[in-house]
Amino acid sequence: MQKPVIIDCDPGHDDALALLLAGADRSLNVLGVTVIAGNQTLDKTTANTLKILEKANLSWPVYAGYAEPLLRKPVTAPEVHGETGLDGPELPEPVRSPEPQHAVEFLIEAVQTSSEPVTLIPTGPLTNVAAALLGAPSICDNIDKIVFMGGAAVGGNWSPAAEFNILVDPDAAHVVMQSSVEKTMIGLDVTEKALIYDSDIETIRELDNPVAITAAELLDFFAQYHRKKGLPGSPLHDPLAVAAVLKPDIVTAKRLPVKIERFGEYCLGRTVVDWYRDQYEDNNTQVALDMDRLQFMDMLLAALRSYG
Ligand code: RIB
Ligand code: CA
Repeated sequence: MQKPVIIDCDPGHDDALALLLAGADRSLNVLGVTVIAGNQTLDKTTANTLKILEKANLSWPVYAGYAEPLLRKPVTAPEVHGETGLDGPELPEPVRSPEPQHAVEFLIEAVQTSSEPVTLIPTGPLTNVAAALLGAPSICDNIDKIVFMGGAAVGGNWSPAAEFNILVDPDAAHVVMQSSVEKTMIGLDVTEKALIYDSDIETIRELDNPVAITAAELLDFFAQYHRKKGLPGSPLHDPLAVAAVLKPDIVTAKRLPVKIERFGEYCLGRTVVDWYRDQYEDNNTQVALDMDRLQFMDMLLAALRSYG
């Protein structure tokens, strides 16, 4: 029985790898890919989504969503992903266009009409998902789980206190966290353990199929920023969210209430985790705290090998 999922992303190098991981697994029925501004502007993240899907011969429909956060000014990350948002490999301009329907309308309609509860896998700022929940609260009844890459029980990567996806749109993250939907937070606590090293990138390159070579070229570029930051490897944030849907026990999670800081000067965008579960009401959130890196790397390699 295929699991119906919708991936909401902002490609972005790691988003691209998340799409490739999902595309290699027949257990997922990807109803569509919705796109958000984040790593780059919406026009670029939309084009990048189409480029990577066409590289992998994946025909999922693509829907463009919000170009800005719900209430705040846009933030992009060219220092990480480059001016195109997918710098590194030469990828042809996409042949396909995005669907005419807005991503939020698609999210609502697809969840409302699915015969099975849908799993949402957001790997960018949560604007589209929040807008869908605000626009049609009843979709909560047919969402199995929201497994999102974002936040951190400890630390941050776009400020000392906040992770990029949440910091870009903390109001949207608040709407998602307050919803009744079951959530799994794949935060920096686990994604910064999901490091890919130069030796792994060479192993991927040696798979020697066009998709694997593109993945290696994406990772070569992605490594530049992280090496400059002094990291020994690159954190594969978004693919881990997909892996956690494919194989939930690849992460170890704890049910902990999570609130979003929306007004702080130094802590704006922080995911505040109630470790002792005695301050905030339970909001159906499993916080991933550990992960199996070797199993994850095996999954990624197997997926990229399958494109041969
Ligand atoms: O903080 C990392 C997250 O922000 C990843 O999803 C990356 O693609 C960016 O969107
Ligand atoms: Ca992302």
